[in-house]
Amino acid sequence: MKVTVVGAGNVGATCAQVVAQKNIVQEVVLVDIKEGIAEGKSLDLWQTAPVNYYDTRLTGSTNDYSKTAGSEVVVITSGVPRKPGMSRDDLISINAGIVKSVTENVVKYSPEAKIIVVSNPLDVMTYAAHVASGLPRSKVMGMAGILDTARYRAFLAEALDVSPRDIQALLLGGHGDTMVPLPRYTTVSGIPVTEMIDPERLEAIVKRTINGGGELVNLMGTSAWYAPGSAAAQMVEAIVLDQKRVFPCCVKLEGEYGLSDMFVGVPVKLGKNGIEQIIEVSLNEAEQELLRSSSNAVKKIMEILDGMNIL
Ligand code: NAI
Ligand code: 2OP
Repeated sequence: MKVTVVGAGNVGATCAQVVAQKNIVQEVVLVDIKEGIAEGKSLDLWQTAPVNYYDTRLTGSTNDYSKTAGSEVVVITSGVPRKPGMSRDDLISINAGIVKSVTENVVKYSPEAKIIVVSNPLDVMTYAAHVASGLPRSKVMGMAGILDTARYRAFLAEALDVSPRDIQALLLGGHGDTMVPLPRYTTVSGIPVTEMIDPERLEAIVKRTINGGGELVNLMGTSAWYAPGSAAAQMVEAIVLDQKRVFPCCVKLEGEYGLSDMFVGVPVKLGKNGIEQIIEVSLNEAEQELLRSSSNAVKKIMEILDGMNIL
C-alpha cells in the first residue's frame, strides 16, 4: 500500500516520518515543487529506517505525480505557512491555487485515493480540494480537529497532572479563532473534566487552545509542524488500517448540525472508505450558537474564494 504526502516542508516531512515509522504501509511518496527537496528528505528519512526499525520505503519526487500512482491516501500540506501577524485566511489566494493544481494531479494518478487536506485556511482548502477532485465528500477531509484537541488535551493533562492519554475531548467548528472546544464532552478517563478543574482554569485552557496555533507562530516565526504532522499521520493510520477511529475532522456537511454546503470540523468515523459516518452529538443553545458563528466565519472565506474564480 502506498501513501503520498504532497509538500515536503515542515508538516509534510514530519507526517511522512511518522507514517513511515508506524510501519503500516509499503511506501511513502513525498512530492514537492522545489527541486530536490522531496528526494533529499525522503533519502534522509529512509536512512533512519535501520536506526528506527521500520521497512516503509520512501520515495521523493519533484512534481512528478506518476510516482504517486495508486496511492491509498494522499495528504496535502503544500502551501505557504503563517508568518507572524498573518491570519490563516491571509493565505487563501496563494494556497487555493496550489491546492487546486495539486489535487488535480493527485486524482489523475490516484482516482481512488482518500485525500487529507492540511494546508490553511484549512476548512476552505478542504472545500477547494473537494471541488477540484470531484470526489464524494467521504473521500476528502481536512485535518485540524485532532491537532486542536491534542493541544487542549495536552494543556489539560499538564494542569491536572495526569497522562495526556487519559484526556478525551471533542471540538467542533472551523480551524481558527472561532473553533468550539466542548468542555461538556471532555473527560478524564470517563470523569467529566468539570469535576476535576475549576471553571476559571478550564476557561483559560479553552482560550489558550483557541490561540494555540498563534502561540507557536509567535514563538517560532512560522507555524507548528510536529503535532500537525503527527495528527495527519493518525488519520492516515485510521484509514489504511480500517480502524474506525472517531476523530473531529473537517468534512462537508449536508444537513448535519443544521448546516449545508459547509466545511467544518465535526466528529466522524474514519476507516478504509474514508469518512464512514458523521456523528451528530446534541448541543445546548450556547454550543449551537458558537458552531453557527464558526461556520459563518468559514462561509465568509468560502465566498471570498468563490469570488476569486480560482476553482
Ligand atoms: P512549509 O513551507 O514548511 O512547507 C510547504 C511546502 O509546500 C514547501 O516545501 C513548498 O515548496 C511546498 N509547495 C508549495 N507549492 C507547492 C506545489 N504547488 N506543489 C508541491 N509542493 C508545493 O510549510 P508547513 O509548515 O509545512 O505548512 C504547510 C501548510 O500547512 C501551510 O498552509 C500551513 O498553514 C498549514 N498548516 C495547517 C495546520 C492544520 O492544522 N491544518 C497546522 C500546521 C500547518
Ligand atoms: C496551527 O494551528 C497554523 O493552523 C496552524 O498550528
